[in-house]
Amino acid sequence: MIPVTKPFLPSEKEFRAYVKSIWERQWLTNNGPLVNTLELKLKQYLGISHMLFVTNGTIALQLAIKALNISGEIITTPFSFVATTSTIVWQGCEPVFVDIDPGTLNIDPSKIEAAITPRTTAILATHVFGNPCDITAIQAIADKHNLKVIYDAAHCFGTFYKNRSVFEYGDISVTSFHSTKLYHTIEGGAVFTQDPELLRTMALMRNFGYSGVDTFSEEGINAKNSEFHAAMGLCNLRHVDEILKKRKYLYEQYLQRLSNLNVQFQKLENEQDYNYAYFPIIFESEALMHQSKAKLELAQIYCRRYFYPSLSSLPYVKNQPMPVCDSIASRIVCLPLYHTLSLSDLDLICRLLLRAQNFDNNVKPKHFGSLVTDKIESEINVTAVNVNGSV
Ligand SMILES: Cc1ncc(COP(=O)(O)O)c(C=O)c1O
Repeated sequence: MIPVTKPFLPSEKEFRAYVKSIWERQWLTNNGPLVNTLELKLKQYLGISHMLFVTNGTIALQLAIKALNISGEIITTPFSFVATTSTIVWQGCEPVFVDIDPGTLNIDPSKIEAAITPRTTAILATHVFGNPCDITAIQAIADKHNLKVIYDAAHCFGTFYKNRSVFEYGDISVTSFHSTKLYHTIEGGAVFTQDPELLRTMALMRNFGYSGVDTFSEEGINAKNSEFHAAMGLCNLRHVDEILKKRKYLYEQYLQRLSNLNVQFQKLENEQDYNYAYFPIIFESEALMHQSKAKLELAQIYCRRYFYPSLSSLPYVKNQPMPVCDSIASRIVCLPLYHTLSLSDLDLICRLLLRAQNFDNNVKPKHFGSLVTDKIESEINVTAVNVNGSV
C-alpha cells in the first residue's frame, strides 16, 4: 500500500530523552521550558522575529482574526483546506470569494479589487501547497484600501519569498504543524507577526487572557500547546533539512517521469525557495482524473483530491460560482509524497499513470519513465523511522 502521505517520526530514543526530562520536571503544559525552547529554535531556524506555538493551525487562524479585531467581509480564496473558510464563519465574519489563478492556484490579485465593498476589512489568502501568493500585489491592494492581511501558510514550512521566510509577510501569518505536514509537532500550529503589540495580544489570548495570577486583560481562549508536542517538534527540527532535501529530489523525479503525461503542474512562484510540500497534478477532465485515480487504487496506491470541493460551495456560505477554482478542484489530485517514498514506488506510480492515459485512451505511448537504479536510490540516505499515517 502506498498512502498519499506518511508522517515523519524521529527515533524513539530521541523522543524518549525529552520525555524523560518532562518526567523529571513534572511540567506538562502552560508555557513550559520545551515550548519556549521550541519557539526559540524555530525563530532561529526560520530567521524570523516573532512567533507563538499554539494548539493547531485552525486555532492560529482564529487568534489572527480575533487579534486584528476583524469583522464584516473577508476576501478569501475558494481553493484551500476547509479550515480557511470555516474559521472566517466561526469568527462571525463573512467570506467573500475571489477566484484563483489557474497556474499558481493562489488567489488571483487582479480580481480582488472588484470584490471590495464598504464592509471589507481584510484579505485572508492561502499560499497553496506552499507556493507563495503574489504577496507584493496583495499588499499593494491592502495598503490602498486599508485592509488587514492574514496568510494561511499552513503548507509553508521552509518556503521563502524574496529571501525571507514566507511567514514574515502579512499582518499575521499562520501555519499548521499537523502530522501530515512536512514539519510537525503531532498536532500544533503557530502565529507569526512583525508587530510586537499584536504578538503580546495573541500571547495573552492564547492563555485565556491571563495577564496576572487573577487578572485578565483580553478575551482569551485556550490555544496553548504541551511539552510533549514541543518535544516532537524539537526532535523533528533536527531532521527537517534532510526532509526538505529528500522531498525536492522526489518532486524532481516526478516531474521528469511525468513530463509526457497529459496533465498540468502547479506553476511555482520561485522553485529555489519552494519546500516541495505536495505534488498536485491537474487532469484535462474530471472523468480522466477518476479513471487514473481508480487505476492507482487497484494497485493500492492512494492519491487525494486536494482541495476538493471548492470552498465557495460549502453549505454554510453564500454560494458563489468560481469558474477557475470549480474546474480545477474537480480535476486535481495530489500524488503520494513523503520522505520515505522509494524511487521504485514513485516509478510504479508514474508508469501506472502513463499507462492509464496512453493505453486506456488509445494514445500511442511516448515514454514510460525509466526504472530506477539502486545507485540513485542509495544516494538518498534517510535515517528516520516512519509509520503509516492518515492523510
Ligand atoms: C491550508 C490549511 N489551512 C489550515 C489548516 C488547519 O490546520 P490544523 O489541522 O493544524 O488545524 C490546514 C490543515 O491541514 C491546511 O492545510
